[in-house]
Amino acid sequence: MVHHRPHSAAGPPPEFGTDLHLELHGPGLRAGLTDALRQAVRTGRLAPSSRLPASRSLAADLGVSRNTVVESYAELVAEGWLTAQQGSGTRVATRVPEPHRAAPDAPRAKPDEHRPRYGLLTGAPDLANFPRTQWLIAARRALTAAPHDAFGYGDARGRMELRTALADYLARARGVYAGPERIVICSGFHHGLALMAQALRVRRVRAVAVEAYGLDLYRDLLRNAGLYTPPLYVDESGARIDDLARLRGVGAVLLTPAHQYPTGVALCPERRTAAVDWARGTGGLLLEDDYDGEFRYDRQPVGALQGLDPQRVVYFGSVSKSLAPGVRLGWMVL
Ligand SMILES: Cc1ncc(COP(=O)(O)O)c(C=O)c1O
Repeated sequence: MVHHRPHSAAGPPPEFGTDLHLELHGPGLRAGLTDALRQAVRTGRLAPSSRLPASRSLAADLGVSRNTVVESYAELVAEGWLTAQQGSGTRVATRVPEPHRAAPDAPRAKPDEHRPRYGLLTGAPDLANFPRTQWLIAARRALTAAPHDAFGYGDARGRMELRTALADYLARARGVYAGPERIVICSGFHHGLALMAQALRVRRVRAVAVEAYGLDLYRDLLRNAGLYTPPLYVDESGARIDDLARLRGVGAVLLTPAHQYPTGVALCPERRTAAVDWARGTGGLLLEDDYDGEFRYDRQPVGALQGLDPQRVVYFGSVSKSLAPGVRLGWMVL
């Protein structure tokens, strides 16, 4: 580190502070000086409009040739960091790109310093509980056994091994009935719904009823795909399926039957049957978002709606609650 004490403090404010700390590094002296000056401007240590020392005095202070300083200044003028005007010397430009400037020597916040100790947001799994060891063991086993073609593009629906394992798991854990040929792997519910919205548009569906309370994200996704999203109101027995009869032109309904999000109510048995009846009667589809169907705290397990009529229900699942959202793994059962 080189401490430079400017000789000429004359001139209009703002001026240099007492010390200009330049850290010279890099392949050559000139490049090092240029880097250090750029960094000083970027971090705000050299304030906009402040005057730089004359090249001769800075060169003397740093023990470098005057040419080195002149060339370095010229480069920074060309890049827009400094300005050079006859009579007023070399100054820091007044308009330095904002995002790069920080308060001079501001203490760096440690990443965890301001983080709350407890996360009480709804819907987030405990990320500290991610089963790292089991995941590593499973990944190692899968990588060891995987044939070369597992690293190719493969089947757009996902690897057969995964779809077979899922078909088994979903039948066992959620009462979902489908062979692996009807399962499509996607990167979470969000991705699955986006694919489904496209498919519905191709089938000339114009409107998808959505539960009146829910995440705007999914409603917006459907709207952005060009679909109307009439609301279906929710009471203590879940979505009011009977209201579907009054909604015109609805070709599909997006439901969270296991736990309505965010109220948490389960769709009652009569309404499950009514939903399937509506789908059969109109040729519509039920889109079952089973994002957290594996979890229950206060009631008997409720199997997936899909089991009632695999022909009329598109089932969506995700590991975002059971493992972690960062895994970005989900599935559709078509
Ligand atoms: C209602 C609902 N559905 C689905 C999901 C899961 O979405 P993804 O699988 O895209 O992470 C969430 C996650 O918060 C959710 O709240």
